[in-house]
Amino acid sequence: MIDTMKNIKVTKTEQSKWDSVDWENLPFGRVFSDHMLVMDYIDGEWKTPEIVPFSDLKLHPATSAIHYGQSIFEGLKAYRNTHGEVVIFRPDMNAKRFRASCKRMCMAELPEELFLKCVEATVNVDSKWIPNKEGYSLYIRPFLFATDDYIGIKPSDNYKFMIFTCPVGAYYSEPLKVKIEEYYTRAAAGGVGRAKTAGNYAASLYPAKLGKEEGYHQLVWTDAKEHKYIEESGTMNIMFVKDGVLITPAEDADTILPGITKRSVIELAQDWGMKVQERQIEVKEIIEGVANGSITEAFGAGTAATIAPIKIIGYKGTDYELPAVERREFSNKVYKYLDDIKLGKVEDKFNWIFNVSEK
Ligand code: PLP
Ligand code: COI
Repeated sequence: MIDTMKNIKVTKTEQSKWDSVDWENLPFGRVFSDHMLVMDYIDGEWKTPEIVPFSDLKLHPATSAIHYGQSIFEGLKAYRNTHGEVVIFRPDMNAKRFRASCKRMCMAELPEELFLKCVEATVNVDSKWIPNKEGYSLYIRPFLFATDDYIGIKPSDNYKFMIFTCPVGAYYSEPLKVKIEEYYTRAAAGGVGRAKTAGNYAASLYPAKLGKEEGYHQLVWTDAKEHKYIEESGTMNIMFVKDGVLITPAEDADTILPGITKRSVIELAQDWGMKVQERQIEVKEIIEGVANGSITEAFGAGTAATIAPIKIIGYKGTDYELPAVERREFSNKVYKYLDDIKLGKVEDKFNWIFNVSEK
């Protein structure tokens, strides 16, 4: 396991906010734990990571991330399992994806070992913030942004890596109504859709707002060229069960975030003997499949969203309704199994769980 705390300088808060939190009512992403990790990249090297009391940042107005968007992030979760251990779900995958995002955004690449060590230390220092309640977890937000104070377009020389954590419940509280987007685009081939970079989320806000005004929780993005193929949804990958086969858009288009939840669902389905296809999926196939009943399940898969059932898909002014959530055998089973792995109720035969409990 990773060598925790070594070289990480820890300054603990003198005034924990833990007692002032309404633990019965935890909105997603609005409650922050007591500490955060900060590590600068200066003169070509990563400096000593420091864990300090959670606080505001002081930034130069020309900080280049603000102007030119060299800014990436990750999202992962820690749980307290039924044995009382602190565990994180597949953080090695987040470390890899983070590094890939660094590369695409021309930022200093954070070594995966260092990412993992920083995540582990940040979770440990605030492990009492992991909610002890079904469906709840500690959301971990690592991020990196460019810190050169320079007005001009070039990759920044300096960066700041940070991690904070938030005790959270579900991101979506009800089955989703989504709309297939036919005009706006989140990502185009050759662009940055594969990277977990801030601008991708900024680009999605206006079209998502229009979708919300029509009563949809989220959009389903389609390819930028023809709006003919399904890609992914707002904060999650999208998956369907069609005639008993699990289908999801292939990742080879560099327009889709390679999701860790989706990958885990695919690996589980295969282990259970289910046929899986990662391929191009036409919008037409989905609409016809929902209308004729061959598509029995549709859901989003993501860290924040978990397994989020989709109940309605809107397309060209018509709403297509999927079978009731209770009748969805696969997504209910996969949701429960993923939960059981994280909580230590079933054997972790895939080695997805990192036990980061302090020794
Ligand atoms: N797609 C987008 C755009 C996302 O923001 C997320 C969330 O991280 C996902 C997909 C799902 O990825 P993961 O399962 O790794 O959280
Ligand atoms: C995540 O699942 O970590 C996400 O990216 C969603 C986030 C934007 C809230």
